[in-house]
Amino acid sequence: MRLKALIFAFILIAILSPNSYAQLLPERPLEGRMVFEEKGCVNCHSIDGSGGQIGPDLGAYSFSGTGFDLVSRMWNHSPKMLSKMGQMNIKRAEFTPEDFQNLQTFLYFLRYLGKSGSVAKGREIFTQKKCILCHVIGKEDASKVRLDKIKVYASPLFLAQSMWNHAIQMHRRLKSLHVTPPTFTGNEFADLSIYIRAVSTLGEREERYMYPGSPREGEELFKSKQCYFCHVEKKIGPDLRTYNMNKSVTEIAGMMWNHAEKMEEMTEKFKIPWPTFKGDEMANLISYLYFMNPPKISGSKEEGRRLFQEKGCIKCHYPDNPYKAPPIAEKKPFHSENAFFAALWNHAPRMEEILYSRGEGLPQLSASGVKSLYLYLNPKANK
Ligand code: HEC
Ligand code: HEC
Ligand code: HEC
Ligand code: HEC
Repeated sequence: MRLKALIFAFILIAILSPNSYAQLLPERPLEGRMVFEEKGCVNCHSIDGSGGQIGPDLGAYSFSGTGFDLVSRMWNHSPKMLSKMGQMNIKRAEFTPEDFQNLQTFLYFLRYLGKSGSVAKGREIFTQKKCILCHVIGKEDASKVRLDKIKVYASPLFLAQSMWNHAIQMHRRLKSLHVTPPTFTGNEFADLSIYIRAVSTLGEREERYMYPGSPREGEELFKSKQCYFCHVEKKIGPDLRTYNMNKSVTEIAGMMWNHAEKMEEMTEKFKIPWPTFKGDEMANLISYLYFMNPPKISGSKEEGRRLFQEKGCIKCHYPDNPYKAPPIAEKKPFHSENAFFAALWNHAPRMEEILYSRGEGLPQLSASGVKSLYLYLNPKANK
């Protein structure tokens, strides 16, 4: 339930955030939640527990693929979905190419949002990672830095951001105490931030929800904060495009934090100022890192030609067929992958109808099969 409220808050903020003109990266990754609701998916599918229970939960850890994966999974379940829809009297919604794009981005982004933290674990971490040496929460202690202030931001990212901004001071203090800097894995930032909120004595009114980040704005920051300089131009740090960044926002923040000490050394060496972040900048940057290296699906035209025969597409798509299926030779190419997904998905019911009347079922399609068919039907598509 909490997650649902969060997603709702994300969408509101996402809708209100300004546009940019970049092409490839999504501007508002959560827009697809609307598709999920408007097309009735939510009647049968839940997202992390909230929603219908007839189909499987499509939440954070269920989908991390491409549009090809999504179409393949929807396609293969189409007969069962269709029959359930018949029973429930729900109409199967048509998709536009944009709908597919938005839905795919939304489902993919759920993993990024991750899970909420645990107060009990956060309490443990606060002691275990030695934060307690230098910090207090909810009370006065002149010898320590109070952390209540960051409570107003109900988000692990703001915790990571304020720690990052103070990394140099923290590292210096740690050195003087001969303590090794703490590292973060998994959901630990989320645990800590929820613990800080729970024990802080600041009033509730000021709470602000986390903003999911704009990958497009993050791309700008990647350049302006010198990440590009060290990671791409000069190759001082590893090539992040070879990393698997399909992790939650807190895990990615952990990766950055864990390399802060080494990075500090390098910034001194190359005389670059320590990059700091304000407002939503870290959210934007991390959402960019998440989308920077999208998963890839392989496929080929040759395989597509073979599948077009083997999966029986040719049994309808031949010249002068009685079904009015466009013959392959006369087909115009699709403008985009999403246009292909929409055309394929929208024609499944008609195709099923004809196939059932012949006593046949819908052929199963793998993600790479969908990709191969796309390449075959679009001789000009590259990749
Ligand atoms: C009337 C109920 C119903 C509706 C509406 C519905 N689905 Fe499904 N969906 C199902 C059922 C049932 C399954 C599981 C079928 C099976 O097990 O073969 C399923 C399976 C899936 C799967 C495969 C999950 C997996 O684990 O591989 C995906 C993806 C999916 N649906 C997406 C969608 C999307 C997107 C929408 C909205 C356009 C939608 N569904 C609408 C009932 C529904
Ligand atoms: C060895 C001492 C030390 C330890 C251990 C330490 N910090 Fe800090 N921390 C500091 C110092 C010094 C500052 C900078 C305070 C300033 O600039 O006002 C700081 C600043 C911060 C800030 C920014 C506060 C703000 O108001 O913006 C956060 C958040 C923070 N630390 C969290 C943590 C967490 C979480 C841990 C445990 C994982 C931790 N710190 C461990 C010394 C430490
Ligand atoms: C001064 C050079 C420098 C700058 C600037 C820099 N990095 Fe790095 N980065 C490094 C180095 C060096 C490593 C490898 C650290 C190590 O091996 O511990 C690294 C590692 C990383 C890693 C991977 C950590 C891991 O788990 O392997 C991430 C993620 C990362 N940097 C993100 C960023 C982002 C985002 C920015 C921009 C805010 C940035 N870096 C700016 C030098 C830099
Ligand atoms: C049982 C007959 C039948 C089979 C088998 C069939 N199709 Fe179709 N297909 C049609 C019909 C009929 C249309 C016309 C659109 C409609 O009525 O929905 C169509 C339309 C399409 C379109 C949309 C064309 C456009 O320009 O919008 C695509 C793409 C497509 N089919 C791909 C395939 C692929 C790939 C296969 C094999 C996996 C396949 N079809 C198998 C009957 C079939």
